[in-house]
Amino acid sequence: MGQRRAAITGIQGYLPDYVLTNAELEKMVDTTDDWITTRTGVRERHILKVPGKAASDLGLGAVEGLLRKTGTDPSEIELLICCTVTGDMVFPDTANTICYKAGIKNAWGFDVNAACSGFLYGLTTGAKFVECGMHRKVIVVGVDVMSSIIDYTDRATCIIFGDGAGAVLLEPREDGLGIIDSVFHGDGAGREFLHMKAGGSLRPPSLETVQNKEHYVYQDGKPVFKAAVVGMVESIREVMSRNELTTADVDWLVPHQANIRIINSVSDHLKFDINKVMINIHRYGNTTSGTLPLCMWDWEKQLKKGDRILLSAFGGGFTWGTTYLRWAY
Ligand code: UT7
Repeated sequence: MGQRRAAITGIQGYLPDYVLTNAELEKMVDTTDDWITTRTGVRERHILKVPGKAASDLGLGAVEGLLRKTGTDPSEIELLICCTVTGDMVFPDTANTICYKAGIKNAWGFDVNAACSGFLYGLTTGAKFVECGMHRKVIVVGVDVMSSIIDYTDRATCIIFGDGAGAVLLEPREDGLGIIDSVFHGDGAGREFLHMKAGGSLRPPSLETVQNKEHYVYQDGKPVFKAAVVGMVESIREVMSRNELTTADVDWLVPHQANIRIINSVSDHLKFDINKVMINIHRYGNTTSGTLPLCMWDWEKQLKKGDRILLSAFGGGFTWGTTYLRWAY
């Protein structure tokens, strides 16, 4: 028997119904479909507009679909990790709310906040519990309701983001398939360029913070763009080099969907055939923790057992990294 690894044995996405198109955004802010498409690649994004619904409900949609599809009884799940920056509440965590709503009663759970790298950080964290033998069935959910923290009068941010969720089931495998390696980095100096100013202990909510619109995403796009390209390229190179992979060996590159120009630039630097790069930013925008599982969900039917896949992300923090896995079904 080989080394015990954690493998993705099922994947499911979930998107809210409402679709916000570029044409609609043209009526809301001073922008054009042409600018949004050429500068970001986004054509439409899904938005949660149902009163009383939140991140846990999108996460629940993905988790329920995943349980159904994999024939897993909720009682079999032992751990659920929810990756999000837009949890239902500041506390408690959203993972336990999802478990409660899904009838997952034998599990513990917690949230991971690593912005756009959240799913990757959560995936590796979940995998470690499987690798060490502590748990046999772990769910990792990436979900964000970015529309809840976006200023829809700010044309620099409202055109990019969308809402969505994706969930994976992790189970042990000993046949060489599953999650093989990850490289992660962080740099707290980057928080200056991408953050939410108020609502935390630094600036608790007040009339002033609300009036100053400090509860929305603040982004200085250009430095984030540059750091994202460098961080993703370097961490992909690091993972490839220590696993002795060439671009020809890699079947799929799954990059975080923040901007089509970032994706193209990363692919060009690494000389990846663009046909092997998963891209769905035109349909969903940047769903933060949702982008990577939503990509794999969209491509699930094209994936083959044994496929070598690199997942790479960059996000607020700054946080970034790359995970290498071999598809298990
Ligand atoms: O996922 C987490 C990590 N986040 C990212 O990776 C995002 C990285 N950054 C980006 O994707 C890009 O920087 C943005 C999409 C946010 C912005 O694109 P950009 O090419 O960096 O544009 P810019 O901010 O430099 O603005 C260029 C021009 C400006 O006008 P002037 O000053 O040249 O006259 C902006 O005012 O485009 C203007 N502009 C717009 N025009 C039409 C900015 N937003 C818009 C808009 N429509 N929506």
